[in-house]
Amino acid sequence: MILARGTSGRKAPMTTGSEVVDQREDVLLVSSDGPKVHNQKMSSYSVLPGLLFAALFLVLLSFTCLSSTTVTKNQHPGALLVPARKRTALEAANLHPENIKGKLFVITGAYGGIGTETTKAILGAGGRVVIGGRSSDKVQEFVHSLSLEFNTQDRVDGYVLDLADLESVQMFATNVLETYKDDSIQGLINNAGVVAPVAATKQGLELQMGVNVVGHFLLAKLLLPKTRRQVWLTSTAHLWDDAPRLDVDYYRNWSLEKDAEGFDYWAAYQQSKLADILIAKEFSRRYPQLETASCHPGMIYTDMGKHVYDETMFDIVLDFIKEYPFVVATEGFWRPVKSPQEGASTTITAVSLPSNELISGGYYKDCAVGKASQSASNMDDAKALFDWCDEVTSLYQS
Ligand SMILES: NC(=O)c1ccc[n+]([C@@H]2O[C@H](COP(=O)([O-])OP(=O)(O)OC[C@H]3O[C@@H](n4cnc5c(N)ncnc54)[C@H](OP(=O)(O)O)[C@@H]3O)[C@@H](O)[C@H]2O)c1
Repeated sequence: MILARGTSGRKAPMTTGSEVVDQREDVLLVSSDGPKVHNQKMSSYSVLPGLLFAALFLVLLSFTCLSSTTVTKNQHPGALLVPARKRTALEAANLHPENIKGKLFVITGAYGGIGTETTKAILGAGGRVVIGGRSSDKVQEFVHSLSLEFNTQDRVDGYVLDLADLESVQMFATNVLETYKDDSIQGLINNAGVVAPVAATKQGLELQMGVNVVGHFLLAKLLLPKTRRQVWLTSTAHLWDDAPRLDVDYYRNWSLEKDAEGFDYWAAYQQSKLADILIAKEFSRRYPQLETASCHPGMIYTDMGKHVYDETMFDIVLDFIKEYPFVVATEGFWRPVKSPQEGASTTITAVSLPSNELISGGYYKDCAVGKASQSASNMDDAKALFDWCDEVTSLYQS
């Protein structure tokens, strides 16, 4: 089955034995035995249980929709009608436009998937955006298309940023700091992410940890004096493999030569997304004036799987539907895959919630505070991660 991760490769790092929270959210681990078939003849009496079942289903459905709707003060009344998890990024942005309009945001990995919709929602709500992306051509094209779409030249800007190269991160940060020396950054959105076969960053770090965490760490550190809030894109992937703890030593000692054989890139993705939650918590702990959040966008049709599958996210989702029709038929009613516009809404919520409503260091999903694994609350691991990131990026911090 296309969505199943390889279980071979390096052993999963230490587990806490902790309970796995909301395991069903991780579609890759869902299993279904399928419905049992009864050959009983349908009688008129069987209509009543059917009706009762339908009524119960509707009650549960309404409960699910309402319970996932977080309405806070200052929201427009229409917000109640849209379940939080189905809210689009622009709808989320319009809940707190005062925290976006005229303010400056920096976003990584903006010309693809969720980043594109996050950027558009910010511009749509009157914000200003600096985007970072690996390809100079794509950055220029994206900035150009946005300035046409939003009829603005001065609210969008972009520079090359390769998070797999700490020198490039340093250069990007310098560009931002020099160009926007009089502005504060309302939100740094660490959105870019990668899942890929074994590879090293330019400085020899494991690619997923290097891009998803360390590159973003350096950017966050360099922009820290100007940043009011950081948002780190994470994933329910942090719950995979029974939500193991972060193994910082593994990454400290990692090398392409030594660790390439049997490398499990999904396990590495799990660790990197766990690290995103921990690092957001640790930034918040070390810098009380800074606000941070990590957020899981949901499962979205994007190009996320492009390095590991021949297919797109769309194909992956179709395969999932074919493989688990029962799960989709039962859970799919209120847990369908989100569109990129819906996926970007949790990022927008995390970056625009008023300070008194944000849980700094918190984990967000479906536009509300979510429950992460126990491993994601391990502040010893968070501290070790922060110290290691500081160490490996120290040459590039000045
Ligand atoms: N899609 C989902 O279902 C899902 C679920 C949970 C979490 N997430 C998280 O959401 C975030 C956005 O993912 P997405 O679904 O929008 O994926 P995507 O469509 O693949 O977009 C990822 C973006 O990151 C950029 N990127 C990758 N490596 C980079 C590097 N070395 N330097 C700079 N930029 C780099 C990509 O640029 P290139 O095009 O140049 O590679 C692309 O713009 C990720 O952090 C991901 O982990 C996604």
